[in-house]
Amino acid sequence: MLAGRLNISTGTFDVREVPVPVPAPGFVRVKVQAAGVCLSDVHLIQGLLKPRHLQGDEVTLGHEVSGSVDLVGDGVEGWAVGARVVLQAGYEYRGVTLTMGVDYDGGWADYVVVPAGVLVPLSEGFSYEQAAIIPDAVSTPWASIVATGGVRPAEAVGVWGVGGLGAHGVQLLRMIGAAPIVAVDPLPEARERALAFGADVALDPLADDFAAAMAAATAGRGLDVAFDFAGVDAVRAQALACLGLKGRLVLVGLSGNPITISDSTGFSYNRKQVLGHYGSEAHHVPELVALTELGRLDFTRSISDTLPLREAAAAVERLERKEGNPIRLVLIP
Ligand SMILES: NC(=O)c1ccc[n+]([C@@H]2O[C@H](COP(=O)([O-])OP(=O)(O)OC[C@H]3O[C@@H](n4cnc5c(N)ncnc54)[C@H](O)[C@@H]3O)[C@@H](O)[C@H]2O)c1
Repeated sequence: MLAGRLNISTGTFDVREVPVPVPAPGFVRVKVQAAGVCLSDVHLIQGLLKPRHLQGDEVTLGHEVSGSVDLVGDGVEGWAVGARVVLQAGYEYRGVTLTMGVDYDGGWADYVVVPAGVLVPLSEGFSYEQAAIIPDAVSTPWASIVATGGVRPAEAVGVWGVGGLGAHGVQLLRMIGAAPIVAVDPLPEARERALAFGADVALDPLADDFAAAMAAATAGRGLDVAFDFAGVDAVRAQALACLGLKGRLVLVGLSGNPITISDSTGFSYNRKQVLGHYGSEAHHVPELVALTELGRLDFTRSISDTLPLREAAAAVERLERKEGNPIRLVLIP
């Protein structure tokens, strides 16, 4: 089968033939129908992100995956061949978080083998492309908003980075009643998108009047919660300064660099908080599938383009360069 393989030591990525994997007891083989491309994949190829639990040097990328059950390993009950599924992007094993396409082979491939516990059923009409991006592009902002950030209705929220995660962050914040929603992105197209997805205001982080515009948007009180969905160092300093009393900054973007709190006394005096966030919990993906099936969420605008798996390297480049300003590019094996 074809698989998009990254060698962690050399940083080389290529799509090539590998043996079709066989599921061990408790595992299931899934025929991949769609797989999203995330900035984390770009970071992995660049070497900015390193797997923490990978055995060996090589991994098949891809942590946003939907498909159909192809072969059920011994001891797995309740799953029939052909069942439509979306896969949780990882699982806990002996207290360790393992991420698909990072710590074990992922879904930029014709087939992927996963523990049965990560399968989430999809209804007949659910598009494979839209389902694929729920784990991560939607579930990570969802978990960061409702769990880590604990955002309540009518709280003032800032969203830095309106790409794959941030565009959905805006949409989800709108759904749960956060207000105002202040989006921040240097790209004009991303700011337009933020307004279309439900932001009240969209600001350019590099504008001279940024601080005044943020103060105006929050009636001088500052933000209750700020989200870094960009993974850019400048975002952290800017977002911290925009927080109001007891404001919390949630770090979702991954930069790999140290965080500096320059006004540390002001940070303590105003009782600000910085919270790390990673992935989502097991209940978040099924919740989002249900909300979509109930018509509360719609990801038709989220799939910017689909490409054949063979063109994975070109998809990575398009995301890195923001060609066509994609929300999510999806690979089809
Ligand atoms: N913590 C987690 O569980 C988790 C999961 C997935 C992705 N991530 C990380 O989240 C980040 C975003 O991923 P994505 O796939 O949405 O990326 P993306 O490339 O689709 O979007 C990033 C956006 O940030 C914007 N941006 C760049 N500089 C900015 C600045 N100074 N201020 C505001 N916005 C700025 C870009 O213009 C772009 O619109 C990455 O760092 C990725 O590694 C973290």
